[in-house]
Amino acid sequence: MVDTSTPAVEVRNLWRSYKRGSETVHALAGLDLVVQPGEMVGIVGRSGSGKTTLLNQIGCLDRPTSGSVLIAGTDVTGLPEHELVAFRRDHIGFIFQLFYLLPTLSVAENVGMPMLFAHAYDRARVREICERVGLAGRMSALPASLDGGDMQRVAIARALVNDPALLLADEPTGRLERQARDEVLDLFDDLRADGLAIVMATHDLEQADRCDRVIELRDGRRLGEAGVDSAPAAHCVAAAAR
Ligand SMILES: Nc1ncnc2c1ncn2[C@@H]1O[C@H](COP(=O)(O)OP(=O)(O)OP(=O)(O)O)[C@@H](O)[C@H]1O
Ligand SMILES: [Mg+2]
Repeated sequence: MVDTSTPAVEVRNLWRSYKRGSETVHALAGLDLVVQPGEMVGIVGRSGSGKTTLLNQIGCLDRPTSGSVLIAGTDVTGLPEHELVAFRRDHIGFIFQLFYLLPTLSVAENVGMPMLFAHAYDRARVREICERVGLAGRMSALPASLDGGDMQRVAIARALVNDPALLLADEPTGRLERQARDEVLDLFDDLRADGLAIVMATHDLEQADRCDRVIELRDGRRLGEAGVDSAPAAHCVAAAAR
Protein backbone atom coordinates (compact mmCIF):
# COMPACT_ATOMS: atom_id res chain seq x y z
CA MET A 1 0.00 0.00 0.00
CA VAL A 2 1.50 3.32 -1.06
CA ASP A 3 1.63 6.12 1.53
CA THR A 4 0.39 9.24 -0.29
CA SER A 5 1.13 11.74 2.52
CA THR A 6 4.94 11.48 2.36
CA PRO A 7 7.00 12.31 -0.75
CA ALA A 8 8.29 9.21 -2.50
CA VAL A 9 11.67 10.91 -2.99
CA GLU A 10 13.32 13.93 -1.37
CA VAL A 11 16.80 14.82 -2.55
CA ARG A 12 18.46 17.66 -0.64
CA ASN A 13 21.63 19.48 -1.75
CA LEU A 14 23.05 16.29 -3.23
CA TRP A 15 26.68 16.14 -4.34
CA ARG A 16 28.55 13.22 -5.89
CA SER A 17 32.14 13.99 -6.76
CA TYR A 18 34.80 11.81 -8.35
CA LYS A 19 38.56 12.21 -8.43
CA ARG A 20 39.93 12.08 -11.97
CA GLY A 21 43.70 12.41 -11.72
CA SER A 22 44.32 15.68 -9.94
CA GLU A 23 40.87 16.99 -10.91
CA THR A 24 37.58 16.61 -9.08
CA VAL A 25 34.51 15.97 -11.27
CA HIS A 26 31.18 16.91 -9.74
CA ALA A 27 28.72 14.47 -11.32
CA LEU A 28 26.02 15.98 -9.09
CA ALA A 29 26.52 19.51 -7.77
CA GLY A 30 23.95 20.46 -5.14
CA LEU A 31 20.78 18.91 -6.53
CA ASP A 32 17.32 19.22 -4.97
CA LEU A 33 14.35 17.15 -6.11
CA VAL A 34 11.02 16.09 -4.61
CA VAL A 35 8.85 13.43 -6.25
CA GLN A 36 5.35 12.70 -4.98
CA PRO A 37 3.60 9.31 -5.03
CA GLY A 38 1.92 8.79 -8.41
CA GLU A 39 4.18 11.26 -10.18
CA MET A 40 6.37 10.43 -13.17
CA VAL A 41 9.40 12.70 -13.42
CA GLY A 42 11.64 12.65 -16.48
CA ILE A 43 15.36 13.37 -16.19
CA VAL A 44 16.90 14.68 -19.39
CA GLY A 45 20.26 16.18 -20.28
CA ARG A 46 23.10 15.42 -22.61
CA SER A 47 25.49 12.55 -22.06
CA GLY A 48 27.55 13.03 -18.89
CA SER A 49 25.10 15.50 -17.32
CA GLY A 50 24.51 13.24 -14.29
CA LYS A 51 21.27 11.35 -15.05
CA THR A 52 22.53 7.87 -14.19
CA THR A 53 24.47 9.20 -11.20
CA LEU A 54 21.25 10.71 -9.85
CA LEU A 55 19.23 7.51 -10.36
CA ASN A 56 21.97 5.48 -8.67
CA GLN A 57 21.87 7.82 -5.68
CA ILE A 58 18.07 7.70 -5.40
CA GLY A 59 18.21 3.93 -5.90
CA CYS A 60 20.71 3.42 -3.06
CA LEU A 61 23.20 1.86 -5.47
CA ASP A 62 25.83 4.45 -4.55
CA ARG A 63 26.39 6.87 -1.69
CA PRO A 64 26.61 10.67 -2.02
CA THR A 65 29.65 12.80 -1.28
CA SER A 66 27.30 15.03 0.72
CA GLY A 67 23.61 15.87 0.99
CA SER A 68 20.70 13.58 1.72
CA VAL A 69 18.24 11.25 0.02
CA LEU A 70 14.94 10.36 1.68
CA ILE A 71 12.86 7.55 0.22
CA ALA A 72 9.26 7.43 1.49
CA GLY A 73 10.41 9.47 4.50
CA THR A 74 13.46 7.37 5.40
CA ASP A 75 16.87 9.04 5.20
CA VAL A 76 18.87 6.34 3.45
CA THR A 77 22.17 8.23 3.42
CA GLY A 78 23.00 7.19 6.98
CA LEU A 79 21.91 3.54 6.76
CA PRO A 80 24.56 0.87 7.29
CA GLU A 81 25.21 -1.34 4.25
CA HIS A 82 23.08 -4.35 5.25
CA GLU A 83 20.11 -2.12 6.05
CA LEU A 84 20.57 -0.25 2.78
CA VAL A 85 20.49 -3.51 0.81
CA ALA A 86 17.26 -4.57 2.53
CA PHE A 87 15.74 -1.12 2.10
CA ARG A 88 16.50 -1.10 -1.62
CA ARG A 89 15.07 -4.59 -2.06
CA ASP A 90 11.82 -3.75 -0.26
CA HIS A 91 11.13 -0.20 -1.45
CA ILE A 92 12.75 0.45 -4.82
CA GLY A 93 12.43 -1.14 -8.25
CA PHE A 94 15.07 -0.50 -10.91
CA ILE A 95 14.94 -1.10 -14.67
CA PHE A 96 17.63 -0.45 -17.26
CA GLN A 97 18.04 -0.08 -21.01
CA LEU A 98 19.64 -3.54 -21.13
CA PHE A 99 17.17 -5.80 -19.41
CA TYR A 100 19.64 -7.93 -17.42
CA LEU A 101 17.53 -11.07 -17.45
CA LEU A 102 19.06 -14.40 -16.44
CA PRO A 103 19.02 -16.43 -19.69
CA THR A 104 18.69 -19.92 -18.22
CA LEU A 105 15.76 -19.01 -15.96
CA SER A 106 12.12 -18.80 -17.06
CA VAL A 107 10.10 -15.59 -17.09
CA ALA A 108 8.48 -16.57 -13.77
CA GLU A 109 11.84 -17.38 -12.19
CA ASN A 110 13.35 -14.10 -13.36
CA VAL A 111 10.36 -12.19 -11.99
CA GLY A 112 10.48 -14.04 -8.66
CA MET A 113 14.22 -13.56 -8.14
CA PRO A 114 13.94 -10.55 -5.75
CA MET A 115 11.58 -12.58 -3.55
CA LEU A 116 14.18 -15.31 -3.25
CA PHE A 117 16.63 -12.71 -1.95
CA ALA A 118 14.01 -11.64 0.59
CA HIS A 119 13.37 -15.32 1.51
CA ALA A 120 9.71 -14.75 0.69
CA TYR A 121 9.00 -16.49 -2.62
CA ASP A 122 5.30 -16.29 -3.39
CA ARG A 123 4.12 -18.08 -6.53
CA ALA A 124 0.71 -16.35 -6.48
CA ARG A 125 2.38 -12.94 -6.37
CA VAL A 126 4.60 -13.83 -9.35
CA ARG A 127 1.52 -14.82 -11.33
CA GLU A 128 -0.34 -11.66 -10.27
CA ILE A 129 2.47 -9.33 -11.34
CA CYS A 130 3.04 -11.22 -14.62
CA GLU A 131 -0.66 -10.78 -15.39
CA ARG A 132 -0.43 -7.11 -14.47
CA VAL A 133 2.31 -6.44 -17.03
CA GLY A 134 0.78 -8.65 -19.74
CA LEU A 135 2.99 -11.72 -19.45
CA ALA A 136 0.47 -14.24 -18.15
CA GLY A 137 0.81 -16.54 -21.17
CA ARG A 138 4.60 -16.54 -21.18
CA MET A 139 5.54 -17.40 -17.62
CA SER A 140 7.43 -20.56 -18.51
CA ALA A 141 9.20 -19.09 -21.57
CA LEU A 142 12.94 -18.45 -21.60
CA PRO A 143 14.03 -14.83 -22.14
CA ALA A 144 15.72 -15.62 -25.50
CA SER A 145 12.33 -16.53 -26.99
CA LEU A 146 10.83 -13.10 -26.19
CA ASP A 147 10.92 -9.88 -28.18
CA GLY A 148 12.45 -6.73 -26.68
CA GLY A 149 9.16 -5.35 -25.41
CA ASP A 150 8.36 -8.55 -23.53
CA MET A 151 11.90 -8.71 -22.14
CA GLN A 152 11.42 -5.24 -20.69
CA ARG A 153 8.04 -6.35 -19.28
CA VAL A 154 9.86 -9.15 -17.45
CA ALA A 155 12.34 -6.61 -16.07
CA ILE A 156 9.46 -4.34 -15.00
CA ALA A 157 7.62 -7.23 -13.33
CA ARG A 158 10.83 -8.20 -11.51
CA ALA A 159 11.26 -4.57 -10.38
CA LEU A 160 7.68 -4.51 -9.04
CA VAL A 161 7.34 -7.96 -7.50
CA ASN A 162 8.24 -6.73 -3.98
CA ASP A 163 5.65 -3.94 -4.28
CA PRO A 164 7.98 -0.91 -4.16
CA ALA A 165 6.84 2.70 -3.73
CA LEU A 166 9.31 3.88 -6.33
CA LEU A 167 10.34 2.72 -9.80
CA LEU A 168 13.61 4.04 -11.25
CA ALA A 169 14.17 3.64 -14.97
CA ASP A 170 17.42 4.44 -16.77
CA GLU A 171 16.57 4.85 -20.49
CA PRO A 172 14.06 2.00 -20.23
CA THR A 173 12.82 2.12 -23.81
CA GLY A 174 16.11 2.97 -25.51
CA ARG A 175 16.33 -0.50 -27.08
CA LEU A 176 12.67 -0.87 -28.01
CA GLU A 177 10.70 -0.47 -31.23
CA ARG A 178 8.03 2.17 -31.27
CA GLN A 179 5.04 -0.03 -30.44
CA ALA A 180 6.82 -1.76 -27.57
CA ARG A 181 7.98 1.61 -26.26
CA ASP A 182 4.43 2.98 -26.29
CA GLU A 183 3.18 -0.14 -24.48
CA VAL A 184 5.79 0.28 -21.76
CA LEU A 185 4.72 3.92 -21.32
CA ASP A 186 1.05 2.86 -21.17
CA LEU A 187 2.00 0.41 -18.44
CA PHE A 188 3.80 3.20 -16.56
CA ASP A 189 0.58 5.26 -16.73
CA ASP A 190 -1.38 2.40 -15.12
CA LEU A 191 1.22 2.02 -12.40
CA ARG A 192 1.19 5.73 -11.59
CA ALA A 193 -2.58 5.61 -11.25
CA ASP A 194 -1.97 3.15 -8.39
CA GLY A 195 0.36 5.62 -6.64
CA LEU A 196 3.74 4.36 -7.81
CA ALA A 197 6.32 7.16 -8.24
CA ILE A 198 8.48 6.82 -11.34
CA VAL A 199 11.76 8.62 -12.07
CA MET A 200 12.98 8.00 -15.60
CA ALA A 201 16.13 9.15 -17.37
CA THR A 202 15.52 9.50 -21.10
CA HIS A 203 16.80 10.96 -24.33
CA ASP A 204 13.44 10.39 -25.97
CA LEU A 205 11.37 13.51 -26.60
CA GLU A 206 7.98 11.78 -26.75
CA GLN A 207 8.74 9.86 -23.61
CA ALA A 208 9.66 13.04 -21.74
CA ASP A 209 6.40 14.57 -22.95
CA ARG A 210 4.42 11.89 -21.14
CA CYS A 211 6.00 12.76 -17.79
CA ASP A 212 4.31 15.04 -15.24
CA ARG A 213 7.52 17.04 -14.96
CA VAL A 214 10.85 17.07 -16.70
CA ILE A 215 14.10 18.00 -14.96
CA GLU A 216 16.98 18.99 -17.18
CA LEU A 217 20.48 18.40 -15.86
CA ARG A 218 23.66 20.04 -17.01
CA ASP A 219 26.95 19.34 -15.23
CA GLY A 220 25.10 17.85 -12.27
CA ARG A 221 22.84 20.85 -11.75
CA ARG A 222 19.24 21.55 -12.66
CA LEU A 223 18.74 23.84 -15.61
CA GLY A 224 15.01 24.18 -16.02
CA GLU A 225 11.85 22.43 -15.07
CA ALA A 226 8.88 21.94 -17.35
CA GLY A 227 5.47 20.87 -16.11
CA VAL A 228 2.48 20.12 -18.27
CA ASP A 229 0.99 23.52 -17.41
CA SER A 230 4.12 25.59 -18.00
CA ALA A 231 6.73 25.32 -20.75
CA PRO A 232 6.30 22.14 -22.80
CA ALA A 233 8.59 19.29 -21.88
CA ALA A 234 9.85 19.18 -25.46
CA HIS A 235 11.51 22.53 -24.89
CA CYS A 236 13.72 21.01 -22.22
CA VAL A 237 14.57 18.00 -24.31
CA ALA A 238 15.49 20.14 -27.31
CA ALA A 239 17.68 22.29 -25.08
CA ALA A 240 19.31 19.19 -23.64
CA ALA A 241 20.19 17.90 -27.09
CA ARG A 242 22.07 21.05 -28.09
N1 LIG B 1 32.50 5.86 -11.44
C1 LIG B 1 32.83 7.05 -11.97
N2 LIG B 1 34.10 7.53 -11.88
C2 LIG B 1 34.43 8.74 -12.37
N3 LIG B 1 33.56 9.56 -13.00
C3 LIG B 1 32.30 9.13 -13.15
C4 LIG B 1 31.85 7.86 -12.64
N4 LIG B 1 30.53 7.73 -12.93
C5 LIG B 1 30.16 8.84 -13.58
N5 LIG B 1 31.22 9.69 -13.71
C6 LIG B 1 31.18 11.01 -14.36
O1 LIG B 1 30.07 11.72 -13.85
C7 LIG B 1 29.46 12.48 -14.88
C8 LIG B 1 28.00 12.10 -15.01
O2 LIG B 1 27.89 10.78 -15.56
P1 LIG B 1 26.49 10.02 -15.76
O3 LIG B 1 26.81 8.63 -16.17
O4 LIG B 1 25.67 10.21 -14.55
O5 LIG B 1 25.86 10.84 -16.98
P2 LIG B 1 24.52 10.52 -17.82
O6 LIG B 1 23.75 11.80 -17.88
O7 LIG B 1 23.85 9.33 -17.30
O8 LIG B 1 25.10 10.23 -19.29
P3 LIG B 1 24.49 9.27 -20.48
O9 LIG B 1 23.40 10.08 -21.14
O10 LIG B 1 25.65 9.06 -21.38
O11 LIG B 1 23.99 8.00 -19.86
C9 LIG B 1 30.28 12.25 -16.14
O12 LIG B 1 31.25 13.28 -16.23
C10 LIG B 1 30.95 10.93 -15.85
O13 LIG B 1 32.15 10.82 -16.58
MG1 LIG C 1 23.32 7.46 -18.12
